[in-house]
Amino acid sequence: MKISKEILNLVPYKPGKPISETQREYGLSQVFKLASNENPLGSSPMALKAITAQLKELHYYPDPTHYELLEKVSSVWGIPKSQLSFGNGSDEIIDLLCRIYCEPGDAILTSEAAFAAYEVSAHASRTQVKKTLLTNDYKMDLPAMAKYFFEHPEEKIRLIFIANPNNPTGTYVSKDEVESFLQQVGNRDDVLVVFDEAYTEFVRAKDCPNAFDFFRRYKNVCVLRTFSKIFGLAGIRVGALVAPTEVIEIFNRVRKPFNVNNLAQVAVIAALQDHEFIAASQQVTWKGLDYFYQELTKLQLPFIESQGNFVLFDTLRDALKVDQALLRRGIILRPVKNYGFPRHLRMSVGLENENKAAIAALREVLKEIPIDGKSNNN
Ligand SMILES: Cc1ncc(COP(=O)(O)O)c(C=O)c1O
Repeated sequence: MKISKEILNLVPYKPGKPISETQREYGLSQVFKLASNENPLGSSPMALKAITAQLKELHYYPDPTHYELLEKVSSVWGIPKSQLSFGNGSDEIIDLLCRIYCEPGDAILTSEAAFAAYEVSAHASRTQVKKTLLTNDYKMDLPAMAKYFFEHPEEKIRLIFIANPNNPTGTYVSKDEVESFLQQVGNRDDVLVVFDEAYTEFVRAKDCPNAFDFFRRYKNVCVLRTFSKIFGLAGIRVGALVAPTEVIEIFNRVRKPFNVNNLAQVAVIAALQDHEFIAASQQVTWKGLDYFYQELTKLQLPFIESQGNFVLFDTLRDALKVDQALLRRGIILRPVKNYGFPRHLRMSVGLENENKAAIAALREVLKEIPIDGKSNNN
């Protein structure tokens, strides 16, 4: 059977290594996973309560209109219901946007080292992926992206994906940078600019924008949010799409009617009201990041300051060797060679004891593996 070359060459998204697999492979009873930017506090307790109460309704199909979910999110975020919809995680939304807006031969534009799902979804839609380089300080280079867009009309770029903050770098683009980008690319009717704000609730930088402001002012702006991170609901899969009414209408036609299950719908409604859990999740993240910065500095490992719930750092060694040695000690981090960083690892913030265990294991491993270009005697 004939299969398109984009699908044949598709490199699947590689999720973090599961705890159970690591336990089996290395014969370990205790393993800490700081590899998938999950919430170390678990899930919002209010969401868990709502899920438990909803269990007796599981024989019913979910509400395909997401009616109550839509009401709640719309009122909390101040976004009209006609400009809001939901997906089975934001990765489903990314996938559907590619399917809806890109025909084979069209292209998406993003950056080198941007979240990998954009590329996977584009290729699955037989769409080309164009990328600009990161700036020297590991940020998405918006001026370069605008320039690329205007210099390549023949490539038919239909979607521009900007993760803000970005994963795995943790870097962000500022309000002013986004404003001047949108003064060029905004309000066009041949391209949608998609801001993926999966980590927005962890941001501490004052000049990092909330893309809802741009959505209200530019008619080709879409925003993705997820309930996987600060709300601790990664396993139940809900993401949100904020987009112009005509985008939402077509999205709702294409998505599966039951893409957000019963439990997920009530969980999100409850989690949005769980201010205590949201605040606690921010505190644990910020404290953990500051601890990582302090310890990585002591270990003399360069790192990139992060606006997410993870930090990308340079091991100064072959990161796969470091990763293997950490796995043997029961610590799962995320190698990022696939993003063009062969010496870096991404470390998610965990609980205090997990963070300490990860740093202690890293300290040992660094002694074992010489810095690249040096022998052990150096
Ligand atoms: C930038 C970014 N966008 C989207 C997602 C996916 O989120 P979801 O769990 O909603 O599919 C992630 C997950 O790690 C992410 O890092």
